[in-house]
Amino acid sequence: MEITNVSEYEAIAKAKLPKMVYDYYASGAEDQWTLQENRNAFSRILFRPRILIDVSKIDMATTVLGFKISMPIMIAPTAMQKMAHPEGEYATARAASAAGTIMTLSSWATSSVEEVASTGPGIRFFQLYVYKDRNVVAQLVRRAERAGFKAIALTVDTPRLGRREADIKNRFVLPPFLTLKNFEGLDIGKMDKSDDSGLASYVAGQIDRSLSWKDVKWLQTITNLPILVKGVITAEDARLAVQAGAAGIIVSNHGARQLDYVPATIMALEEVVKAAQGRVPVFLDGGVRRGTDVFKALALGASGIFIGRPVVFSLAAEGEAGVRKVLQMLRDEFELTMALSGCRSLKEITRDHIVTEWDRPRIAPRL
Ligand code: FNR
Repeated sequence: MEITNVSEYEAIAKAKLPKMVYDYYASGAEDQWTLQENRNAFSRILFRPRILIDVSKIDMATTVLGFKISMPIMIAPTAMQKMAHPEGEYATARAASAAGTIMTLSSWATSSVEEVASTGPGIRFFQLYVYKDRNVVAQLVRRAERAGFKAIALTVDTPRLGRREADIKNRFVLPPFLTLKNFEGLDIGKMDKSDDSGLASYVAGQIDRSLSWKDVKWLQTITNLPILVKGVITAEDARLAVQAGAAGIIVSNHGARQLDYVPATIMALEEVVKAAQGRVPVFLDGGVRRGTDVFKALALGASGIFIGRPVVFSLAAEGEAGVRKVLQMLRDEFELTMALSGCRSLKEITRDHIVTEWDRPRIAPRL
């Protein structure tokens, strides 16, 4: 059957992958309320399209931290991509660079920063988990710099791993033929089986629960790379991130895999954008599956979005070709949304092109 949208890859991935792997990719935390809400919240935002505007030329290009990309659609870090496909992160890196966009490589990738860099040119960010052993962190950041990564996405919502019940039931563990490649030489590249999620145990053993704002400053003493703080969902933390020297903010609830019953990211976006006061760019991830979702995020002030699960599902289904197709479908849908809304460039997308539940009901008939 022909695939006509991004969401269709999930069923294919589910049929292809071992249950333990599919469940790890798909799951959210606990009741998975936020997981559904990440999608549902987009569906409650409607358009106020403008008509009779010459949309014969549409420009989706943009700049992120000074790097020119073809569209405001980027790839979020997702761990352990070789569980989805033998080419794993290599395939994702090639697909991203073919699409002219940014890939973020996870700390917990099954390919190293050097290996991903060896796939060829491309703008790449490195996602950082802060280990208790700060030498490990400093070494890794230096390796990412040398490998040509352009920014650090510091994940700040994971002092402990969220309770993903499928992973607990499955006793999830990285398959023995794979390693967390960035840590291979450091003896912390493997995950032991435990009577919990093996990843939850790994996090409990290795990740620094004491991480705080002062560490965002510390990170700036060991690298000149710009730092994106990933996992901000309140205005309060947006202000602190700016004060701490962040170069940008990613509004993220970790794909609903950490604290359940936090709002959908699209619901939190506008307060973060307002708090950032234009001082740093604000990005969003979580539940983006349509070009219309991309448009809605930009209308609420995002400078761009990142996708997570669509990458691992399409990778599982079709490898690099699948990830390319996901990026192409989102690009085409987003372009069409712009055309049908009367926007020719990203600058022309405004708050007035959408209506949300928290707006005065502008779509109610005016009597
Ligand atoms: C993630 N995410 C994630 N985030 C991070 O900072 N480091 C990581 O290693 C991972 N790994 C990871 C694995 C898998 C399987 C998923 C689904 C997610 C979170 C990710 O970067 C992003 O925030 C979400 O995936 C965005 O939501 P969607 O697009 O999956 O709905």
